[in-house]
Formats: sequence, structure tokens, C-alpha cells
Amino acid sequence: MNEALRHRPTSGATAGELAGQLSNIRACTRRLTEDLSAEQLMGPMLPIVNPVLWEIGHVGWFHEYWTLRHVHGATPLLDRADGLWNSSTVAHATRWDLDLPDRSGVFGYLTDVLARQLDRLGGTVEAPARYFYELSIRHEDMHVEALAYTRQTLRYARPEGLGRAATEGPAAWTGDVDVPGGHWRLGSAPADGFVFDNEKWAHEITLAPFRIAKAAVTNAEFAAFVEAGGYRNREFWSAAGWAWREQAAAERPVYWLAKDGSSWTWRRYRAAEQLAPHTPVMFVNWYEADAWCRWANRRLPTEAEWEAAALGEPDGSRLTEIKRRWPWGEASPGRERANLEFACDGPLDVADCAAGDSAFGCRQMIGNVWEWTASDFVPFPGFAADPYEDYSQPWFNTRKVLRGGSWATSARIARPGYRNFFTPDRNDVIAGFRTCAL
Ligand SMILES: [Fe+2]
Repeated sequence: MNEALRHRPTSGATAGELAGQLSNIRACTRRLTEDLSAEQLMGPMLPIVNPVLWEIGHVGWFHEYWTLRHVHGATPLLDRADGLWNSSTVAHATRWDLDLPDRSGVFGYLTDVLARQLDRLGGTVEAPARYFYELSIRHEDMHVEALAYTRQTLRYARPEGLGRAATEGPAAWTGDVDVPGGHWRLGSAPADGFVFDNEKWAHEITLAPFRIAKAAVTNAEFAAFVEAGGYRNREFWSAAGWAWREQAAAERPVYWLAKDGSSWTWRRYRAAEQLAPHTPVMFVNWYEADAWCRWANRRLPTEAEWEAAALGEPDGSRLTEIKRRWPWGEASPGRERANLEFACDGPLDVADCAAGDSAFGCRQMIGNVWEWTASDFVPFPGFAADPYEDYSQPWFNTRKVLRGGSWATSARIARPGYRNFFTPDRNDVIAGFRTCAL
């Protein structure tokens, strides 16, 4: 790898912009946690959640470790912080048994770390330091989304004051579009600014022509599979998927309750609500998405197909060399283009956000719900771990790739090139799927 590629690009944000981002994302962390009782801050020991009190401290520790200590050479603020909050060394199952500071101690630690970061950012910031501030801001972004779905997992109250309630929009948006084949450069490029190690670097692949849905699969479309006995019919499930279904005794998506007349109800945070028919199905795992596809004679897109449908442009019967920054072009995301960053505190109908369509007419590829792809999470050619070594490397070959971001994802994370990854049994993340024709 040459030196230019070893370089870790950044967004170019100024010190003042980084300070603003730090303060804004911290406000989200607080809104998602401050109303919780001491008991809720610990919660039950589950493999899919962290104790919220631990998670908040871990976010502060990550900022301190990579910015104050790694970049600025400061000494640790708390002697025992590494032993409490280093996620690489503190085993998940032990996080409930640690001698954590209490609520005011943990929030006090976060406030202390942030004050010192803002102090350091009072002047200018150079590229190597900027990279680590951007890393730690994005790390808090990820935990903010995790806190949102943890509240759903643990039946906590709907968080107040985050986003507007999603109202019913223009309803269904059905049909496929044709994407021509050709050469595609899969992955991110240095010009994309801050990227994670697993996105590096864009490399040429060849794509065959394919047809992909204009929208994600909706609740109504998924309900047809449930009502057709899809969860009881082995033929629609992979071997691993059926094993999961049997072990979980799944009969429908995890939060769906019952069919009441013509519509389904589901548990949203702590309350039963009517399921909106035209929002994307969410909180389904990869096995459920795969089973729906087999039933509907469809398939999941590969991540390369997803990326080409989102960012490509047609040139007759070939893909052009052009790769857009966002599906709609260069402009930053806004509510009219993408439901991100709690613009709404739930998903919008699939026909909404028409201004965010890709060149091929695919809608909501950014925001609303993460989309499972057919692809295994594998390293791109020439992969080399970045300084946060455990970000990608330990998880290769055991996860599936998701793309596009959800209503709870920051625009910093929901770049089209961002590769999210979860094990195929995870139905607690804000994920749905879009499909391709066979
Ligand atoms: Fe983390």
C-alpha cells in the first residue's frame, strides 16, 4: 500500500465544528438516558445489550482514551477507567458486576472529559488529531443508536424530545427498477473523508444487470408471509434460519403482538400500537429477511448491488464511472431526502422522501431502516486495521453487512459507503430489507 492510501482522511471539520458535534451528540446521549431509574440503568444481563450505566461510561472513556490521552498525551482522569470501560478487555458478561461509579459519578466523568475536549478544541485542530476526534464522535453516534434500540428491547418508555412523531405519508411505493451491469468500484475512496478501515479501499468489481425494488419491504408485505404460515413452513428457511426459528419459537417478527381485525398491533417501547402497513418492516433479522425472500421468489441484494443502485448512474446499458456522494447527489441529507438523526422518532412510509431518490429511482436507501444485504462481512482486498483495532477485524466472516442507516443513525454514520454488520440472528437492531428480482 502506498503512503497516500495509508493516510487516514478526515472530513476536514474545523475545531469549532468538532466542538459543536461533540456537544450535540452528548445531548442525544443524555436525552436517551437521563430519565431512567437506577434499576433501569443496570437492566437485565442479556447478550444483546449493555448495562446503560456501563455504556455511558464507556462512551466517555472512549473519548478520553483516543483524544485526551492518545492525541494530547494527558494522564488518565480516573485510575481504574481502563479496567471498567475498555470494551476490548472487559468481557461483556462481566459488565453487570463491575464496581461502577453511580449515576452522578458517571455523568460527572463524561462532563469532565467533554470540558477538556472543548478546551483543547479552543484553537485549531490538525489532521492527525482531527481523525481521533471524528472517530470518538462517530463512536458516540453508534452508541446513541444502540441506546435507542436498547430502550425498545428492554420495554423502557419512549424517549422524550428526540424527534417528531412519524405521520402517515404517501403510502406504498411498489415495483422494481433496472440497474445495468458493468464495472463498479466497491468501497470508499480517500476523497470520501473520514471512513472506517473495513471500507478501504474502493476496488473494481464486475456486476451483472439486476432488478431491485424501489422501496424496502413493508409491514403489509411482511404480514402476508406471516399470515401465509411462513414461520411454520421449513421450505422457506435456510438450515441455520430454521434452527434459529425453532430455538426462538418465532411465529412473527419479535415485537408483533396480534392481528386485531384487519391490522396488526406491535409493542413500541412499552405500549401496544397499531402497525403502520406502509412503513418498512423493522426489527427482523437476516434469517427472517431471507425466508421472506424465498417465499416471495425474491433475493437480497449483495452489498455491491445495493451500492450501485444507490450511487450509480446509467449510461445506456452500462453503469457510468460516476459514483454519487449520496443517492440524490452532492447535497447534505435533509428531512425531505432522508429520515435520519431522529428527524422522526420512527420510520416513515416507504413512499416518503421522494427528493432522496437515487438515479435509478430507489427511495430511502439512506435512513428510515438499515437494510440487510446478502453479503458476509469480509475484509476488502488489502485490508489493514486502523488504530481502533477491534472495530472490524474480530467480526469478519461471522456477520452480515447492512447498509443505509436508520431514523436513529447520524448522517456521519449513514454515509452510503458505511458497512454496518451484525450476526444474522439479531432482530433487535433497526433493520429491514429491500429485495431483488431472481
Ligand atoms: Fe463502544
